[in-house]
Amino acid sequence: MPADFDGSNPATRWARFCDLLWYDEGLGLWLDVSRMALNQRDIEGMQPAFAKAFAAMAALESGAIANPDEQRMVGHYWLRTPELAPDAETAGHIAGEIDRIEAFGHQVLAGGLQAPGGGTFTDVLWIGIGGSGLGPLLVIEALQAEGQGLPFHFIDNVDPQGISRILGRLDDRLGTTLVIVVSKSGGTPEPRIAMEQVRARLEQRGGRWAGQAVAVTMVGSRLDRLAEAEQWLARFDMFDWVGGRTSITSAVGLLPAALTGTDLRAFLDGAAAMDAATRAAALTANPAALLAASWHVAGHGRGQRDMVVLPYRDRLAVFSRYLQQLVMESLGKKLSRDGQVVNQGIAVYGNKGSTDQHAYVQQLRDGVDNFFVSFIEALDDPADIPALAGERPGDVLEGFLQGTRTALMESGRQSLTITLRRFDARSLGALVALFERAVGLYAELVNVNAYDQPGVEAGKLAAASILDLQGRLEGLLADGAPRTLEALGQELQTADPEPLFWILRHLSANDPAYRVSGSWAEPASLAFARV
Ligand code: PA5
Repeated sequence: MPADFDGSNPATRWARFCDLLWYDEGLGLWLDVSRMALNQRDIEGMQPAFAKAFAAMAALESGAIANPDEQRMVGHYWLRTPELAPDAETAGHIAGEIDRIEAFGHQVLAGGLQAPGGGTFTDVLWIGIGGSGLGPLLVIEALQAEGQGLPFHFIDNVDPQGISRILGRLDDRLGTTLVIVVSKSGGTPEPRIAMEQVRARLEQRGGRWAGQAVAVTMVGSRLDRLAEAEQWLARFDMFDWVGGRTSITSAVGLLPAALTGTDLRAFLDGAAAMDAATRAAALTANPAALLAASWHVAGHGRGQRDMVVLPYRDRLAVFSRYLQQLVMESLGKKLSRDGQVVNQGIAVYGNKGSTDQHAYVQQLRDGVDNFFVSFIEALDDPADIPALAGERPGDVLEGFLQGTRTALMESGRQSLTITLRRFDARSLGALVALFERAVGLYAELVNVNAYDQPGVEAGKLAAASILDLQGRLEGLLADGAPRTLEALGQELQTADPEPLFWILRHLSANDPAYRVSGSWAEPASLAFARV
């Protein structure tokens, strides 16, 4: 039975460490939650809630409609253990896609598939946003060996400067760049617009788009239909029952692995092994349950503490952003599953250690106590960075992690630590699966649907209505007459002139045909004309 959390007593700390440490030899992974305020009475008090959560996760894995708002099954666990899928056809489909992805990667890397103008592909341009962008970025940043496979470039936004920068970087290699357009729904505006820009640039230069374009999307989506009609180089499936933020073990994460010669089977195997470990139906024997319980106690089940993600491994810097999406898009919900307003969530931020010790860790130690830290470390140091004058960088890094962990404890601040024996494709798969399951369990504890994203949909709708307003505004100003914002608002029958101010400020910054009179500091004095 663990002693109560008490930062000031070293003997208690050690006893808690020994009592609460979770370790799995096969996974090569330790989880230490002894420095979280998870006490024996919490563990006992949460047993009934966890019994229900384990049962709900088992039902989800057997194909229950776990995302009722979208009437969808939630099947990312099947991606790494296809035999768990509810029917043989789905299992065969998953396994077939993995084989196809692997074969495609081999063909591209070996030069069997060539760029339309001849020659091997030199680069990959990945166009996708949210879950269709972050997982691939993590795979590349974490796992691509130096100089192995194709260099990757990402467009995960509709920022014209960002698109221009990537196109400028690719420049004369654009014709030998494999362009992978990724959108589960196949209708998200940002990747569609970025794709159209890339395509236009390529075709201006005489390139043949279809010969170098690949779609990753749901069968039958707008993107899929386009790719099929135009006979793009390849199409890979995103399954209806896999959400964007849990799609890293689908084609979304496997294709980048395949195109960089990364062991995608090991990645899947690590995730499958962690899935098996996190099916244990006992709180202290289940690392995902230990995480979910610790988060719950720390934030009083209301997300009152932020999760600071501090991996002591440069290659995992993007993992903080990856978890930010996984946790916040899954748990950040206004309504509970029975329609009560709960405004749930856990805020996630972070970057990497020890770098962040020279930045915001100052506040973590001495400032407002509204967080817990998730340290992540890997024990394997590369052999080519030896000790110099008695100083081994790996030992120094470990020392910094321990130092910060202790300093936080001494100020009563909470932290947990995940230690990987080795950092590789298998352990990354395990790490991802650990957090996926912890998020699923936590969502059960606080009774929210972790698998929908009504806020994202609302944002898409709001943007569409602004673009519609812009279209009507431009139509109105086409007659060349100057108008104040108030007059424009009346003519367009919009009660709020502020969106018009924003649209016209942007239009007039980019189009010299817009004439502005009045003062920008006094919006009501402004008048606009398009001459
Ligand atoms: O996790 C999610 O569901 C979202 O973040 C989506 O991945 C994101 O909105 C992109 O959607 P899509 O892949 O349909 O373009």
